[in-house]
Amino acid sequence: MNINTLIFDLDGVIVDTARFHFLAWNKLANTWNHTITHEQNEELKGINRMRSLDLIAGWCNVKLNDDQKKEFAELKNNWYLEQVKQMTESDTLPGVKNLLTEAKNNNIKIAVASASKNANEVLRNINLIQEFDYIADGNSVKESKPNPAVFLNVAQHLKVNPAQCIVFEDAPAGVEAALAGGFHVVGIGNQQSLPNAHFILAGFENISLNDILNFFK
Ligand code: BG6
Ligand code: MG
Repeated sequence: MNINTLIFDLDGVIVDTARFHFLAWNKLANTWNHTITHEQNEELKGINRMRSLDLIAGWCNVKLNDDQKKEFAELKNNWYLEQVKQMTESDTLPGVKNLLTEAKNNNIKIAVASASKNANEVLRNINLIQEFDYIADGNSVKESKPNPAVFLNVAQHLKVNPAQCIVFEDAPAGVEAALAGGFHVVGIGNQQSLPNAHFILAGFENISLNDILNFFK
């Protein structure tokens, strides 16, 4: 089946916000005398805000009631947004814009599938929001990655088959979600963190649309 759609995760794929999420979560964990390890941070990538808080509280042996959960999630989000507010167009990761332009020139649809409720704000700040045919974010579906719902939401909306789409993901939970939905998956990062992706790219620099399409021929 011919590829007709590219679906991009946002944080860590289009923009380096994965680092800002880590810094904000780690700041919270530090208040509970814990430093988030590299392995723990890999687990946090791609999953939603409340699930992340539950995991971190568990690692820190902190028990939170619902009001406290709301309060700490908001505190983390405010720290995160302080970084997001300073972002500009130049924060788009290298090679992303070229790939989007190439896709458009070849009549390939482009979409975002993110677990983040801040996805629209981030895309506005880097002046990329208008480029996409569709954006599914943390408000679009109930179940979060590794559930395939957010990717299936994109496929449904654009009326395409998962087998016609390539998903780009930096998170193990995101790779699992895309595979579960029957999508082709390119892992952004390294083989060690994303062993189940069909292909791995370190990033989009020096890679053309054709190179990517050829992976799946
Ligand atoms: C994902 C990130 O894209 O969105 C996670 O990989 C983040 O790190 C999640 O926790 C939820 O984001 P937000 O902006 O709604 O808190
Ligand atoms: Mg990501």
